Amino acid sequence: MRFLAIAPVLLCATGLVLSFLCLFAGSSKGFLESYDIVSLNTSRIGQNVLNSSRSSDNPFVSFFDNITNSISNDINQDINSFAKDLGLHDFYSAHLMDYCEGFFMPGPVPNATLSKKSIHRNVTSCSNHTAMYDFDPREVLQKELNASGHSNINLDDLKWPSAIDKGLHALRIAQRATFVLYCVAIALIGLATLLALISIFSEGRTSAFLNVLVDLLAFLAIGIASAIATAVAVKAADVINHYGNAVGVSASKGGKFLTLTWVATAVMFVASLVWCLDCIVGRKQPRRQTATKNYADYEGGRRY
Ligand SMILES: *[C@@H]1O[C@H](CO)[C@@H](O)[C@H](O)[C@H]1NC(C)=O
Ligand SMILES: *[C@@H]1O[C@H](CO)[C@@H](O)[C@H](O)[C@H]1NC(C)=O
Ligand SMILES: *[C@@H]1O[C@H](CO)[C@@H](O)[C@H](O)[C@H]1NC(C)=O
Ligand SMILES: *[C@@H]1O[C@H](CO)[C@@H](O)[C@H](O)[C@H]1NC(C)=O
Ligand SMILES: *[C@@H]1O[C@H](CO)[C@@H](O)[C@H](O)[C@H]1NC(C)=O
Ligand SMILES: *[C@@H]1O[C@H](CO)[C@@H](O)[C@H](O)[C@H]1NC(C)=O
Ligand SMILES: *[C@@H]1O[C@H](CO)[C@@H](O)[C@H](O)[C@H]1NC(C)=O
Repeated sequence: MRFLAIAPVLLCATGLVLSFLCLFAGSSKGFLESYDIVSLNTSRIGQNVLNSSRSSDNPFVSFFDNITNSISNDINQDINSFAKDLGLHDFYSAHLMDYCEGFFMPGPVPNATLSKKSIHRNVTSCSNHTAMYDFDPREVLQKELNASGHSNINLDDLKWPSAIDKGLHALRIAQRATFVLYCVAIALIGLATLLALISIFSEGRTSAFLNVLVDLLAFLAIGIASAIATAVAVKAADVINHYGNAVGVSASKGGKFLTLTWVATAVMFVASLVWCLDCIVGRKQPRRQTATKNYADYEGGRRY
C-alpha cells in the first residue's frame, strides 16, 4: 500500500469535478448560471437613441420614433426597461457551451431605495448546448428583435457599435480553443485520477514517474485552458465596455468562473508536486532499508 497516493487521488478527483463544473456551468437555467465567462448588461440599450430622438427632427430618427412611439411613452414614465419593451433581455451571460438570458430583479438600475447589491439576476432561459460555441451578441439580439415582431428595427438603429462585433470576432478562435482545451484537460485529469487510484496498490518508481508525467500534462492543459479563458473574459469585457458604454451596453468578466478554473489548476499543480515528492522519497527508501530485496527485484540488471 502506498499511502502517499491517497492525497493525489483526492486532489485529482477534486480537479476533475471542478473542471467538469467549468465546462457545464450554466448548461441549464438552474445549474451554476452565475458562473459565466462574461456577461452583457443590455438593460439600457438604445436609451441614447430615444434621448436624441426627442431632441431632433432627423427623418431617420423620427421614423425610429414612430416605431417606438408606444415604447417612448413607457420610458417617459421611466418604469420599464427599454430592452424589455423591444423583446430583449436585461442580461446575456456567455458560458463555454451556451448562453443564458434573463432580467434583473427587482430592477436593472440601482436608485435611492435599490442598492446595487440587492439586484439579482433572474434567468429566463438558456440556449441549447453547442460544442465549440462562440457568443455573438449581434446575432442573438437581432434574433430576439425579429422574434418579438420588431424585425424592422435593425441593431444598427440602436447604434450597436460594429467595433464590438469585430473585437469579439477576434476572440472566436480562442473561445473555441478553450472548449477543446477543457475537454483535453478533463480527459487527462480523469486519466491522472485513475492512475493515482491504481498506484495506491502498486509500489515502485515507474508508476510514480508515470503519475508525475500525466499530472504535469493535466496541469498544463487546465492551466492553458484557464489562461485563455481569462484572456477571453478580460478582452471581451474590455471591448464591450469600451465601445458599448456610449449606447448603454456594459459587460463584466465572470469572477466566479475564473476562480473556479484557477482553483482547478492549483489543485492539479499540488497533485503534481505530491507525486514529485513521492518519486524522491521512493528513491531513497529502498536503498537505505531493503537494499538486498531491491537487487532481487531487479535481477535483470536493470536498476534505476
Ligand atoms: C437620457 O435622458 C435622461 C433624462 O431625460 C438621462 O437621465 C439619461 O442619462 C439619458 N441617457 C443617455 C444614455 O444619454
Ligand atoms: C411618423 O408619424 C407621423 C405622424 O405621427 C407621420 O406624419 C410621419 O410621416 C411618420 N414618419 C415616418 C418616417 O414614418
Ligand atoms: C428604484 O427602482 C425600483 C425597481 O426598478 C422601483 O420599484 C423603485 O420605485 C425605485 N425607487 C425610486 C426611489 O426611484
Ligand atoms: C446595467 O447597466 C446600466 C447602464 O450601463 C447600469 O446603470 C446598471 O447599474 C447595470 N446593472 C447592473 C445590475 O449591473
Ligand atoms: C423570475 O421571474 C419569474 C417570471 O418572470 C418569476 O415567476 C420568478 O418569481 C422570478 N424569480 C425571482 C427569484 O425573482
Ligand atoms: C434546441 O433543442 C430542441 C430539442 O432538443 C429543439 O427542438 C430546438 O429547435 C433547439 N433550438 C435551437 C435554437 O437549436
Ligand atoms: C431578422 O429579420 C431580417 C428581416 O426581417 C432578416 O434579414 C434577418 O436575417 C433576421 N435576422 C435573424 C438573426 O433572424
